[in-house]
Amino acid sequence: MAGIYLHIPFCKKLCYYCDFYHIISSDDDSSFIDALLKEAALRKDYLSNETVTTIYLGGGTPSVFSVSQLGQILNRIYELFKVSDDCEITIELNPDDVQPEYLEGLKLLKINRISLGVQSWKDSDLKMLNRRHDSARAVTALNDILKSGFKNVTIDLIYGIPGMSLSDWESNLDFTFSFGIKHLSAYHLTFEQGTVFGKMLEKGLISEIDENDSTAQFNLLASRAAEAGFIQYEISNFGKPGYFSIHNSNYWKQVNYLGLGPSAHSFNGFTRQWNLRDLKGYIKAVNSGKSFFESEELDTRTRFNEYIMTSLRTMWGIDLDYVEKMFEKEGYDYVINLSGKFKNYGLMKQEQKSLVLTNQGMLISDNIISEFMMPD
Ligand SMILES: C[S@@+](CC[C@H](N)C(=O)[O-])C[C@H]1O[C@@H](n2cnc3c(N)ncnc32)[C@H](O)[C@@H]1O
Ligand code: SF4
Repeated sequence: MAGIYLHIPFCKKLCYYCDFYHIISSDDDSSFIDALLKEAALRKDYLSNETVTTIYLGGGTPSVFSVSQLGQILNRIYELFKVSDDCEITIELNPDDVQPEYLEGLKLLKINRISLGVQSWKDSDLKMLNRRHDSARAVTALNDILKSGFKNVTIDLIYGIPGMSLSDWESNLDFTFSFGIKHLSAYHLTFEQGTVFGKMLEKGLISEIDENDSTAQFNLLASRAAEAGFIQYEISNFGKPGYFSIHNSNYWKQVNYLGLGPSAHSFNGFTRQWNLRDLKGYIKAVNSGKSFFESEELDTRTRFNEYIMTSLRTMWGIDLDYVEKMFEKEGYDYVINLSGKFKNYGLMKQEQKSLVLTNQGMLISDNIISEFMMPD
């Protein structure tokens, strides 16, 4: 069991908050696809012939590509790798790119999961974020997707947007749950260095929302999602039973994956690799046989820290048997000893052989996780 992530780095408009590697769409499409497929061939043994059970087309905006360009990419992946018949194949779509014929084309390529970047249903938020689409366009896109027969549909929302009130957020959530979607990813806005918002924050032109408002919006998200029948299986991810993202869950469960394209990461249990975050440099390096990635051998401490960082954000939490098996008595004792105080504060609980964060703990997950990090 393994996953493949394909990074399509093109966007038609740059959102002010986004730090994912992306550039404005250019004429480099065909040289990019050539390089991507060359990389796929060069690295076809990375997964040691494991069966690929998930493929994720992310970005950037994969939907800037036509069905035939996506077909060229996926068909080569199907040739090079052992892809399971029931493989979960996700594509991220921008609402502006969704057309009924386009969706029919995606089905023919065996794509069976759609992630739509809605972000907010309120036009003033979308303007502020510098999104390409407005709310009406997102409604049409989501209806088209549901009408076309895709069952496994998720949308992305952002909360904690400056100026967003609790009732704005409530309306966004209520409207979201009025569609028959099976999954929701909802992220608190982060101000990333180097983005337009990051620079505005440094200059004092924008400010983060008040901490109490953040907490209230997170609590509302958790309660409304639960009422609507969604399970919060990760801090920002909510799914109906049977509709959790297998691809993302596998990242959190240390399943091997191969990341192709500029800035993509790969993991095979013992090494982590990340590709150049520069399209031209990436294409040039792949074509000239030069190195296009950096890598790190993961020592026991790093593997432990990565495990804690990912598992504690999920509903499955820290698996104590796994910790004992992988990190021996030292790792096990370390976790048990540290967890004591968090349990006393009601931030963590033990469920059989797992340690999971409570709702209160999730609110300060970053602080708890950093306390669990094993120092050098
Ligand atoms: C690669 S983008 C999604 C796909 C597509 N490019 C789009 O925007 O529609 C992944 C998601 O991460 C979220 N995201 C990105 N940067 C963020 C930030 N700084 N704060 C909160 N959420 C963010 C957005 O919800 C976004 O849809
Ligand atoms: S959020 Fe999506 S569309 Fe916006 S810049 Fe980032 S990758 Fe591009």
